[in-house]
Amino acid sequence: MRDSDLIRAARQARRRAHAPFSGFKVGAALEALDGAVITGCNIENVSYGLTMCAERVAIFKALSDGHRRFRRIAVVADAATPTPPCGACLQVLWEFGGDLDVILANLRRETGRHRLADLLPLPFDARQLK
Ligand code: THU
Repeated sequence: MRDSDLIRAARQARRRAHAPFSGFKVGAALEALDGAVITGCNIENVSYGLTMCAERVAIFKALSDGHRRFRRIAVVADAATPTPPCGACLQVLWEFGGDLDVILANLRRETGRHRLADLLPLPFDARQLK
């Protein structure tokens, strides 16, 4: 699968976002090591605090369907500047995804490309509990 296919899947998922409060729709597409593509969109709630980001929807869907290892994630928003995963999503992606490639895009083009370890350089993870 090409990066552009993963970005296209994230754009499609973004169309299903429920973002009436911020108006900021986000789509994500996660590629598992077995080749499966699992998508997510942000789902807001009137209580605001219960809002769930597109990235976490995608990884929770993937985990609950039995995918455990991942290669890449594409994140799409309608913004000129890159939209990286928020801190909570970086933490959850690190826990399960390891050092993923994170591909950022808007509706027209790719806007950035990072390793998860560069976005979360000093992670709190299971090593600290030993
Ligand atoms: N949001 C995401 O879904 N992913 C991101 O990477 C950044 C933020 C959502 C949460 C909220 O619904 C809206 O974007 C504005 O913060």
